[in-house]
Amino acid sequence: MINTALIVLAAGMGTRMKSGIPKVLHKAAGRSLLGHVLTGTAALAAKQTVIVVGPDMETVGQEAQLYVPGSAIAIQTKRLGTGHAVLAARESLAGFSGIVIVVYADAPLISAASIAKLIGKTDGNTPLAYLAFEAENPTGYGRLLTGPGETIKSIREELDATPEERAITLCNSGIIAVQSDVLWKYLPLVKGNNAKGEIYLTDLAELVAKSGARVGYSTCPETEVAGINDRVQLAGIEATLQAGYRNRAMLDGATLIAPETVYFSADTKIGKDVTIEPNVFFGPGVTVADDVRILANCHIEGAAIAKGARIGPFARLRPGARIGEDAHIGNFVEVKTSVIGKGVKANHLSYIGDASVGAGSNIGAGAITCNYDGYEKHVTEIGSNVFIGSNTALIAPVRIGDGANVAAGSVIGADVPADSLAITRSELRVKEGWAARYRKMKQARKAAARKG
Ligand code: UD1
Ligand code: MG
Repeated sequence: MINTALIVLAAGMGTRMKSGIPKVLHKAAGRSLLGHVLTGTAALAAKQTVIVVGPDMETVGQEAQLYVPGSAIAIQTKRLGTGHAVLAARESLAGFSGIVIVVYADAPLISAASIAKLIGKTDGNTPLAYLAFEAENPTGYGRLLTGPGETIKSIREELDATPEERAITLCNSGIIAVQSDVLWKYLPLVKGNNAKGEIYLTDLAELVAKSGARVGYSTCPETEVAGINDRVQLAGIEATLQAGYRNRAMLDGATLIAPETVYFSADTKIGKDVTIEPNVFFGPGVTVADDVRILANCHIEGAAIAKGARIGPFARLRPGARIGEDAHIGNFVEVKTSVIGKGVKANHLSYIGDASVGAGSNIGAGAITCNYDGYEKHVTEIGSNVFIGSNTALIAPVRIGDGANVAAGSVIGADVPADSLAITRSELRVKEGWAARYRKMKQARKAAARKG
């Protein structure tokens, strides 16, 4: 297997995003653009990864560590062009020998398959290859000036191109595969004598070709190398990703009644024979096992839902919610950092936070775990086969033993032993005939007032 190293260019300011955060940290399908590029290229198993960032972009480096722990961060202090950015990564790759891949962090749809195909274009005689695409509208892209036998003689940027060259539709995606020794030999020789005065990575093509070596290329669909400059394009990429995730979920055996209304995150995992009704949003970190039904209008993030469970309609599962097999989480029930046991039913209007609920327990309508005292969070432990009556407040920290019965409307501020009844209710008083007497008195007063 060929040794590969990955350089990710992420030094761009992203001014058109009109944002306080670097462009590549903006998210599509719950994952940063940088995260998409790093997961999309993970299958290449690069030996080393270098992220080229601008000054004051520590957060980009931190994000990279989440996806590729130990990746190097190189700082390009001045933004002097794509070639200059690659040179900034040189020190981090000292000692590396093999194929260097350069990708852009703001083009999140790139696939490892296209890069593998590109790597396949390099060989002993072809130390450099560019990933190209047929552009529907080539304006703004570098054009490939090709020679015989699928070779590149040179790449011409828009501003430097003649009208004839501008008519070319075979364009540079910016992604390259290059042998490390050739890269570091020729890239320092690239001069900024172009319209922008920048050090262009594209100019490497002509230098290498003139040295007598072959410069090759492969192609991929234009959609795969689409870059993002503004939030309209970000929304476009989001739509592309969502369409793909919806199809994948359906082809993997889930029924989506109205697929265009369901939003997945890049890491959502959906099992087989899962039914998802309209208007369901999956934030990051959700796993849904087989045979689960998610009824309409649910918001779910950071949750694991076990086989056969039924969620919603109108349920909210927050990070750390683990819903057991065949459990029912119904309308207007919110679950956070809680383990819900097998077959538990919490069907209406509840908040279950920082809790565990044992198998077979029933949480009545309006029951609340009071997990926060204004300063700290506390845990509620509910055993198995417990009955929590409606409108109960469980003041954490508190434990309810197996098989206990908590009467409706109770406020539970101390542990309840197994198999006992807990009830905090003021005595019921019934005054027979009181309402009739009261009504008569009030009606009489009203009538007297009208006469007077
Ligand atoms: C570049 C290519 C062009 C190609 C196009 C595809 C060059 C000279 N041109 O043009 O042939 O068709 O991409 O989209 O390579 N970056 C840095 N530091 C810099 C400059 C750029 O990190 O100093 C990064 C940017 O953040 C971005 C990428 O490199 O991720 C591309 O830069 P950009 O300015 O968008 O290049 P284009 O002019 O679009
Ligand atoms: Mg660009």
